[in-house]
Amino acid sequence: MIDVVGLSKRYNQGTANEVRAVEGVNLSIGEGKIIALTGPSGCGKTTMLSMLGLILTPTSGEITIDGERVLLNSDNWKTCFRRDNFGFIFQHINLLYRNTAMENVLLPLYSLDAEPQAYAAKAEELFERLGLKDRGGRLVETLSGGEQQRVAFVRALIKDPKCIFADEPTVFVDEETSKVINRIFMSLRDAGKTVIMSTHDSELIKIADEVYRMSSGRLTDRH
Ligand SMILES: Nc1ncnc2c1ncn2[C@@H]1O[C@H](COP(=O)(O)OP(=O)(O)OP(=O)(O)O)[C@@H](O)[C@H]1O
Ligand SMILES: [Mg+2]
Repeated sequence: MIDVVGLSKRYNQGTANEVRAVEGVNLSIGEGKIIALTGPSGCGKTTMLSMLGLILTPTSGEITIDGERVLLNSDNWKTCFRRDNFGFIFQHINLLYRNTAMENVLLPLYSLDAEPQAYAAKAEELFERLGLKDRGGRLVETLSGGEQQRVAFVRALIKDPKCIFADEPTVFVDEETSKVINRIFMSLRDAGKTVIMSTHDSELIKIADEVYRMSSGRLTDRH
């Protein structure tokens, strides 16, 4: 359960370039739910996801996860918490382009106790499920945008996180892959996971349990 009260983010606070990216957002996100954030470009969706995912520190407000006020904890605690509980699919994909697809999935695991090779079979299974069979050994820079997006999915799901943050996850993929992603989100929900995404994809919005519309940093509508 994630509870958010009065969450705000101002970039370049106190300067002439101050941007009020998120303003006073209150939100409760239950486990096993698919949550969609929608709204025009620049309304604050990525900023919201980054704060909820404990990547970006809010200017003000509270985030409580399972009763714990997590913003009071150290950066190191947040890093460990993210690693153990969250999976991220970033808007700008953020892969290592000079490494292979498989290395992109397994390299982050070196920071865990786990032996990365122990995850290779699971990675292969996810690659296959996402239509990337035989792509594991290819350098990411030789993959299409849609294929790269799907590698980012494998990377996010490999550790079986409790909560998945997905920022415009279907922007670079074709209709068929979009359907696969749609089904993956539904099966994650069936397994009790929480999916928090920003999207304009009407098919993804259809499967969301709650849809929030943002405008100029505020939540303006919920349905
Ligand atoms: N690092 C930053 N420094 C300064 N301003 C920023 C920064 N990141 C985002 N912004 C500004 O904050 C506002 C919200 O940006 P954000 O990326 O959260 O929007 P978004 O809804 O995700 O947009 P899009 O749909 O285009 O991805 C925008 O006005 C943006 O220009
Ligand atoms: Mg964005």
